Amino acid sequence: MKLRVAVVYGGRSGEHEVSVRSARSIMEAMDPARYEILEYFISPEGKWSPRPILPEPGAHPEIDVVFPVLHGTFGEDGTVQGLLELAGLPYVGAGVLASAVSMDKEMMKRVCKERMLPIVDYVTVTREKPDITEACERLPFPMFVKPANLGSSVGISKVHDPQELEAAVALAAQYDRKIIVERGIAGRELECSVLGNETPAASLPCEILPSREFYDYEDKYLLDRAQTKVPADLSPLATDQLRSLAVACYRAVECEGMARVDFLLEADTGRLFINEINTIPGFTSISMYPKMWEHSGIPFSALIDQLIALALDRHQRRKATRFTR
Ligand SMILES: Nc1ncnc2c1ncn2[C@@H]1O[C@H](COP(=O)(O)OP(=O)(O)O)[C@@H](O)[C@H]1O
Ligand SMILES: [Mg+2]
Repeated sequence: MKLRVAVVYGGRSGEHEVSVRSARSIMEAMDPARYEILEYFISPEGKWSPRPILPEPGAHPEIDVVFPVLHGTFGEDGTVQGLLELAGLPYVGAGVLASAVSMDKEMMKRVCKERMLPIVDYVTVTREKPDITEACERLPFPMFVKPANLGSSVGISKVHDPQELEAAVALAAQYDRKIIVERGIAGRELECSVLGNETPAASLPCEILPSREFYDYEDKYLLDRAQTKVPADLSPLATDQLRSLAVACYRAVECEGMARVDFLLEADTGRLFINEINTIPGFTSISMYPKMWEHSGIPFSALIDQLIALALDRHQRRKATRFTR
């Protein structure tokens, strides 16, 4: 019997197009002898076709497991995961809590801090109180300004003086009511793939070499000029440190299934900082998450097999939990 996999993709997010590309490469790599694919496309307006997944347990006997391939809002942030919990369906990737914490850049930093994991110094401001005084007092320029809950570099600016800072906060405030201002790190960008439930494993790291002043939206998706290097050119010691930090961050947010953990390596000091964790990383044919695994000995289609197995394994274990008295 083939396993019936519902691939949910598209979505009401700035990363809709990327999601469509990710889903396409996942569906192409799924072994047709093992899997039957059921497509669930969500339009940029949030309309499902051919029909939505219903939140009632037992409503979908035709689905064995769901693979949410949604990046960003309304998909990577715990909302769709919540729907799948209500439906009682096994699904690939992080649960509701880890998805939501990882999507919120401030909450993720708070969780890392509690575990004493290295993060970049930052100040939080809000749309209601866009005061830059504390940031100017505490952080040196240049700074980075980011909406707390977004991806793909949308709404992110690098600023060099208080005027630019003020304008950048106003821009970020269009995308979220919570805004992060952080110290800019001059150095290198590194990423690491993590896979697993109770015993997560980290891949070999890669390096991103942006073609612009930073890895912005154009550079990520439009220009195709950013370079990547797998594995990253790091000492064995730095590689080990990075991989164990990736796993520590994954555990700190209580992630399951998969995540890509992104780092900044400061040139002057050699210090490594965790920048962010992505619970549904890009999965296109050129994306780093599968590429890092390929270099670490897990080919794309075997990676999908493992992710689905992890989803079923978690669902099985959750059956031991009582939800009523
Ligand atoms: N503190 C920082 N110092 C230096 N560069 C940064 C910093 N924060 C972000 N960047 C740059 O901005 C890009 C996007 O920021 P990131 O936090 O990864 O947001 P997103 O979720 O949109 O990917 C990073 O890939 C990096 O190039
Ligand atoms: Mg990023």
